[in-house]
Amino acid sequence: MPEIDARLREDVHHLGELLGQTIRDQYGQAFLDKIELIRQGAKAARRGSAEGARQLTATLDGLAEDELMPVARAFNQFLNLANIAEQYQHIRRRKPSEPEPFENRVFDELLGRLRKSGHGAEELAAQVAGLDIELVLTAHPTEVARRTLIQKYDAISAQLAARDHADLLPEEREQVQTRLRQLIAEAWHTEEIRRTRPTPVDEAKWGFAVIEHSLWQAVPNFLRHVDRALQRHTGQRLPLNAAPIRFASWMGGDRDGNPNVTAAVTHEVLLLARWMAADLYLRDVDGLAGDLSMQRASAELVERVGAVAEPYRVLLKQLRERLRATRAWAERALLSGEAPPDEVLTDNRELLEPLQLCHRSLHGCGMGVIADGALLDCLRRATTFGLFLTRLDIRQDSTRHAQALSEITEYLGLGRYAEWDESVRQEFLLEELNNRRPLLPANYQASPDTAEVLATCRVVAAAPEASLGSYVISMAGHPSDVLAVQLLLKECGLQRPMRVVPLFETLDDLDTAGPCIDRLLQLDGYRTRLAGPQEVMIGYSDSAKDAGTLAAAWAQYRAQETLVEICRGHDVDLLLFHGRGGTVGRGGGPAHAAILSQPPGSVAGRFRTTEQGEMIRFKFGLPGIAEQNLNLYLAAVLEATLQPPPVPEPAWRTLMDKLAADGLAAYRAVVRDDPQFVDYFRQATPEQELGLLPLGSRPARRRTGGVESLRAIPWIFAWTQTRLMLPAWLGWESALLNAVERGEGALLGQMRKDWPFFATRIDMLEMVLAKADGDIARLYDERLVQSELRQLGANLRDLLSQSVRVLLGLTGQYQLLAMATETRAAIGVRNIYLDPLHLLQVELLARSRRCEGDVCGGLEQALLVTVAGIAAGLRNTG
Ligand code: PGA
Repeated sequence: MPEIDARLREDVHHLGELLGQTIRDQYGQAFLDKIELIRQGAKAARRGSAEGARQLTATLDGLAEDELMPVARAFNQFLNLANIAEQYQHIRRRKPSEPEPFENRVFDELLGRLRKSGHGAEELAAQVAGLDIELVLTAHPTEVARRTLIQKYDAISAQLAARDHADLLPEEREQVQTRLRQLIAEAWHTEEIRRTRPTPVDEAKWGFAVIEHSLWQAVPNFLRHVDRALQRHTGQRLPLNAAPIRFASWMGGDRDGNPNVTAAVTHEVLLLARWMAADLYLRDVDGLAGDLSMQRASAELVERVGAVAEPYRVLLKQLRERLRATRAWAERALLSGEAPPDEVLTDNRELLEPLQLCHRSLHGCGMGVIADGALLDCLRRATTFGLFLTRLDIRQDSTRHAQALSEITEYLGLGRYAEWDESVRQEFLLEELNNRRPLLPANYQASPDTAEVLATCRVVAAAPEASLGSYVISMAGHPSDVLAVQLLLKECGLQRPMRVVPLFETLDDLDTAGPCIDRLLQLDGYRTRLAGPQEVMIGYSDSAKDAGTLAAAWAQYRAQETLVEICRGHDVDLLLFHGRGGTVGRGGGPAHAAILSQPPGSVAGRFRTTEQGEMIRFKFGLPGIAEQNLNLYLAAVLEATLQPPPVPEPAWRTLMDKLAADGLAAYRAVVRDDPQFVDYFRQATPEQELGLLPLGSRPARRRTGGVESLRAIPWIFAWTQTRLMLPAWLGWESALLNAVERGEGALLGQMRKDWPFFATRIDMLEMVLAKADGDIARLYDERLVQSELRQLGANLRDLLSQSVRVLLGLTGQYQLLAMATETRAAIGVRNIYLDPLHLLQVELLARSRRCEGDVCGGLEQALLVTVAGIAAGLRNTG
């Protein structure tokens, strides 16, 4: 495949060879030959050879029961190795003559362009320093790979880097080779499926590990890069107190539909974060206390530590003692609940101040070169991560708050809150919010559910302000949803303002998001309780599940436009929080393009977004990759702020309205209205079996029931496995076709050319369609679906083909991704390894659905390996 870089191909080939040797060591040459026969068959079949297809199925059919698992594992592992090589390709050492990747150049080039277009140096530097981007790491259960394997994968990547040095001596090369063999063997002999579900605390620890192993390094490097680019283009430096990108977390805080995240867990995770932060800074400060042995110091520093021989060391050792005390206390408090003694660091300024003092003094004494080394890195970390590492958000479902309030009002003899209409609720809540006496009697005995809600609010009230982010309310729709949380927090002793954030995530709620916020901002006293901007969260994946990606995308866009206008009218800053997953069906896509396609005015120097599951690993798992992704975020937010995309033409809006209406009708006609649909979904996809995969701490469903009760993640995950990818495209085929038939093809073309919002949607659609595969989906139907339901499957596959046809008509290309040759080639290579996994999965699903008794356990494990392999091969899960 000429489109794939030769070095990448070589790495993939090499890793594949080593995997082959490992497999042979365990199972012998004959077994390896079978794997090769399957691979060759799949390759030939993909090229259209009937003989290849026959060889593939014959070899798979001939496998003994105990061979199914190792075959599935072999293909799974290969796809993981291909991912490692691909990821490494992004950060591999380049020769000086080779161009820098886009991600490395993007910020620097943008500054150049902005300067040329007339932005003043100082204005630009101030703008960059003031950016407020927050990446919120969530525990969404989509990461299939076990942590222990991820560590081995990272080590493999490091060996690929070592291998890349051209001047290795023969024995050094030999060492790298041996290490690679060992790592691949270690991975092969490690089970890829977790045996038990992680706890929410495990999840939080994984989040901390990403900070420790990657972001701790990446953030100061990234900011150094920003600093250099600013100096080059504006002559200004990035101020020490600038942290244009910060991190927040949902791990251990998001309890929406997850009963395992309790108030005690949140409390524990907050303490663990403090422990981890103190531990990380201790490593830095230890190093600095060793390095900064200089004697010359500013008067300010001398005054602080006295006329000592090594003033920097003295000051840093004091800080080190406090960090030790903080770490020791956090450890004790995890067990005993002990309150922090005085020497524990609780205010970020206590961490920053001594570091800043050293930095100033070194600069003042002609030792700027020393100041701007490890000390500056530590300062940048302290500014970005602070003493709490991340800001922990809380999320809870609106109905849980309403239930709690109902119980309370009933107890107080006021009637049932849940039965009151919106205006009565608001009146009650406002009155109580302004009331000085508590609503809850001291001896009030709540039911377990209400007690849990209240306990969480108490944890929030007791936590230091800087350790928390927002309190997000899922399935929010009315002002009372926000006021209810404010009241519960007040009742639990919260004395400072906190961002209480409605999450709008159904089509109807998105449509009424603007009026809801408008009403809130008009309410008595609301503005005084608002600390900072009005934050609003937009839920991409549940709205897409509700309405299809087309109608949902337009509703998200319009909601944001309205919110911008409303907040402008009230003279309130707006912070939009984008809740999106990794895949297109959950609103995912490349961040840079996505940010540049938001409505004008919606990214005004502020941007908050979720980063989830396997995307955290893909985007932030290795320091070099993390730096690139931080560059992309920074550049996109700066560009969207200073050069926002155009306001859509009236004709574009009208056509979008029609497209969305048609898309919605087509989507719901299948998903909601076809009486056969739920049965078909359950039979054709591994939805039921996915529940067995212990991916995350939360259950797959909010309650029992049909598609509406299923969370967005397993919904998308299931369709990805069969390659029908239904939710990502369903609705587009009819909407686009109708538009073309109405003679609006040229207008669609214009929208694609001139409107980033529409262009990005079409690009995403094209990507999804390139990964979808009707022939694979048919295999699932033929083997797993009752005959009465098969026609529905055939219809859906026809709609998929229609999507492809109409999209090609729109792009004027003869094939999908005709211009993105590298991506197309990568999908092509992966298909060869994916096809056997799909075939095996179909077989295993059929057998395990029939099976009863002991053998099922073995089948189940193999089945889960195919699930993990397909997820790895498509590079996203759900
Ligand atoms: P949620 O997320 O179910 O936690 O709201 C959905 C998603 O991220 O796809």
